[in-house]
Amino acid sequence: MPTEIAARDRLIVALDLPGVAEAEAMIERLGDSVTFYKIGMELTYAGGLGLAERLAASGKHVFMDLKLHDIPNTVERATRQIAKLGARFLTVHGFSQSMKAALAGAAGSSLELLAVTVMTSYDDADLAAAGYAMTVKELVAHRAVQARDIGIHGLILSPEETALVRPLVGPGMQLVTPGIRPAGSDVGDQKRIMTPALAIAGGADRLVVGRPVTGAADPAAAAESIVADIDSAVALVGKTNRA
Ligand code: C5P
Repeated sequence: MPTEIAARDRLIVALDLPGVAEAEAMIERLGDSVTFYKIGMELTYAGGLGLAERLAASGKHVFMDLKLHDIPNTVERATRQIAKLGARFLTVHGFSQSMKAALAGAAGSSLELLAVTVMTSYDDADLAAAGYAMTVKELVAHRAVQARDIGIHGLILSPEETALVRPLVGPGMQLVTPGIRPAGSDVGDQKRIMTPALAIAGGADRLVVGRPVTGAADPAAAAESIVADIDSAVALVGKTNRA
């Protein structure tokens, strides 16, 4: 029986900040309002691995957004290192070899893998230029099913893709969506956006939110408001919850 995900654990705050000091100051300001953090390449390459380890040791959930893709031996060994940090999520590009290698590297740990199906910066013309005879939607669907069959735990998707993908992969995969903007907030460079409540109602399990929280005058209040929005959507749609 799947256990319930608390609304607060559905919010993942992206620490897209230039250095560890800035990230630690933000984590301090956010306090108990945020339980889950995403650390991407920028912060990782600026000393963020130690921060990830400290965050995990302090009881927060850590999502390492490193989008691994290399020969299987390298992906497996790199994944094993990330698992040692105590991270909860790690992204891997949705290629069979990389996904299988990452699963092998995560074996025996509590690290869960999220596959990136197709980068949201890609359109059909970019795929054609890269040699794919598929549309973005077709490739997203193809890779989502492949990820499920390989045993990957979840997918990173735009909130507009969850309705297409959920029926393909079933209830067991975690769908994690960036591109979230609370009503009335700055869109920034995101093109396909949704409010937290709509994204949850549309099938997302967890939301990645960066600037609407970290750029707010009161980040903790912004996080609380998103958690409340998520909570109301979960109650409304009677979501099937997974831990
Ligand atoms: O600040 P904002 O809420 O736009 O941040 C969204 C986060 O999600 C960033 O860390 C960004 O890199 C990440 N992301 C995204 N779109 C994707 C994959 C990841 O916005 N397709």
